[in-house]
Amino acid sequence: MSFTIAIDGPAASGKGTVAKAVAQHFGFHHLDTGLLYRAVGKKVLARKPGGFPPEVAEKLAKALTPKDLADGGLRAPDISKAASQVAAIPGVRAALISFQKTFAKQEPGAVLDGRDIGTVICPGAAVKLFITARPDVRAKRRFQELRKTDTTLTFETVLADIQDRDTRDRARSTAPLAQADDAVLIDTSDLDIQASIVAAVAVVERVYSAR
Ligand code: CDP
Repeated sequence: MSFTIAIDGPAASGKGTVAKAVAQHFGFHHLDTGLLYRAVGKKVLARKPGGFPPEVAEKLAKALTPKDLADGGLRAPDISKAASQVAAIPGVRAALISFQKTFAKQEPGAVLDGRDIGTVICPGAAVKLFITARPDVRAKRRFQELRKTDTTLTFETVLADIQDRDTRDRARSTAPLAQADDAVLIDTSDLDIQASIVAAVAVVERVYSAR
């Protein structure tokens, strides 16, 4: 039976880096589910800048292909915002469920990271992690990452964008960002990348070796 690991958490908490490393450590498949919403967000922005009817976003979500996820430009701030806006549309989320569920069942195992993996997509996951960090720490990390390509960005803008997105992600009625009851919390505020990975691998290893 395949082994599914669900990793959730707010923006720039380090969940993506940890998810990738955990997948590599165990030889599992990895899906960054944020890319699905980012890809829809990008298409919506291209079609209807400045506002869009939910049906348009839903249609674009249904037509998404793996090639759309390979787009290198998906991490731009305007796309982050559009992603969290389309992610609040129930029809968009519904259109993306079966792809994620199928991905999660792959042998020998799969790691999915996002907002609703432990609560909605894979409620029966073998291991659930909720990775978080203080907002100022998360904004600093994202600021350093984005500054490489955009030197006009300020720390304050990045912090405001992250807080705005977290609020929207937690407040939406369909599949809000939330820690599953049985998820293990890892706060990476005072951990570097390596220590965060070690902490996550240790939690998974306990369950994996006892299965
Ligand atoms: O990398 P970062 O944490 O900044 O964002 P992401 O994981 O790429 O997700 C981008 C946006 O997609 C989030 O702000 C959420 O609104 C949405 N998302 C979601 O609703 N559900 C998921 N499973 C993953 C992402």
